[in-house]
Amino acid sequence: MSKRRSIIEIPSLNAIDRTANISRRLAEALRTAIARGELRPGERLPSTRTLAASLRIARGTVVEAFDQLTAEGYLEARVGAGTRVAAALTEAAPPLHATPAVPPAEDAIDLPAPAARLISMARTLSPHPPVPFAIAVPASGIAPDDNWRRLGNRVRASKQAAPSGYHDPMGVMELRIAIADHVRRARAVQCEPEQVIITSGTQQGLYMAGRVMLSRDDPVWAEDPAYPGLTAVLDDLGVRTHRLPVDAQGMNVERGLELCPAARAAFVTPSHQYPIGMPLSMARRNALIAWADKNRAWIVEDDYDSELRYAGHPFPSMQGLRPSRVIYLGTFSKVLFPSLRLGYVIAPLPLAEAFAGARAILDRHSPISEQHVLAAYIREGYFEAHLRRIRGLYAERRAILLAALERALPQGCHVQPSDQGMHILLWLPQEADDVRLAANALSAGLAVRAISPMYAAQPARPGLMLGFGGFPPEQLQAAVSELARLLRVCIAQTAPGA
Ligand SMILES: Cc1ncc(COP(=O)(O)O)c(C=O)c1O
Repeated sequence: MSKRRSIIEIPSLNAIDRTANISRRLAEALRTAIARGELRPGERLPSTRTLAASLRIARGTVVEAFDQLTAEGYLEARVGAGTRVAAALTEAAPPLHATPAVPPAEDAIDLPAPAARLISMARTLSPHPPVPFAIAVPASGIAPDDNWRRLGNRVRASKQAAPSGYHDPMGVMELRIAIADHVRRARAVQCEPEQVIITSGTQQGLYMAGRVMLSRDDPVWAEDPAYPGLTAVLDDLGVRTHRLPVDAQGMNVERGLELCPAARAAFVTPSHQYPIGMPLSMARRNALIAWADKNRAWIVEDDYDSELRYAGHPFPSMQGLRPSRVIYLGTFSKVLFPSLRLGYVIAPLPLAEAFAGARAILDRHSPISEQHVLAAYIREGYFEAHLRRIRGLYAERRAILLAALERALPQGCHVQPSDQGMHILLWLPQEADDVRLAANALSAGLAVRAISPMYAAQPARPGLMLGFGGFPPEQLQAAVSELARLLRVCIAQTAPGA
């Protein structure tokens, strides 16, 4: 120890809390002193006996702390030469000046470019609280229901859910079989269970599809407007996205052929365009398939809510028209509940193992017990019955919402017709600021999504998405009155001369 000062003059050592875990606290104080440069590499420490006496603690406690720091490489002990701060720490991190009491603000540290981008994605994708008009809030008392809980208890008490090692990234075979049966019947998907890869939802399916099919800078097509979770994935993958405008027939494929016929993939929501709601017309489906065939390109079909249809029959899936060119993505977020985090990819068989690789890299696989619960829920007929019930309930809530809006909407606002899913779209006058309106609505206890940020083309069309599935009639009606008030304020603010 240098003659400069006694070790206990070092503030962090002097101040150690002697009430509990003293050896841990002493080790911590010594680490801090070394990091701050108060103890230098090579500097000799007092003997354990001397230090214990100075600090008025048991010698065994000091021995324990020294042993710990020696194991960590902070100290080195040589017989006859006492204990020193490890000489190799010369190259250690620069001294720590002070431990910040609060984490530094974002702009006070040098954010790496990906971190800055991901922070913005976290904000765009942050979930809404479960207040009216949040989308994908399951109807309480219906989903998850008693059967779900009962099956959960049964599966969790069985061998299937016992703690075990890693499993197949493709997922539990019973669930893959149940999903293949369901989509063949309900969506005319052509597949075998070997083509089904369980995901943690479509968000992950979109990312995995990108990883499997695309390299950096590859050109792709996406709709305009589009699901922000998709555009975030495409940005993150570093591909070149050509946004194709959407009209009454859905994505304008002809525009894609003019802009970039050599695109490697097209990302579409053909059953229910997100966010506007029209289906992709049969003519456009055929054009998209002809393009994919000719260019050996891929179609990624995001079929996020087609089970929730309230009139007529849905178009069958695009996958069923060309199974060799379509990656089909399904999810249980809308028909069961989003916190389940289970969905699926149906891939052409030669690609299925690549999806397993993409999944293994991300997080290996989804929790096994939840997959068994869902497999039993589908296999034993509860899923079909649940679908029938929520279709009826959501159709009723949708009709109530539409009627209330019709009575209350100020001039210049109108509802976009669509008969599927868990949301409706409300167009606003072109001058309206939908982003500001959505922020004001949130302060007033309403969760609406603004449409204009989902457009690449400018000027974007303002509008709001209103979810209805999770809210009983009285709550929807009261929410519409409040929304109408906010709309009137918004329109008055944007009126000429306001
Ligand atoms: C169009 C669309 N695609 C994908 C998703 C992601 O769903 P998941 O919860 O399965 O990740 C959503 C969720 O709202 C969606 O609306």
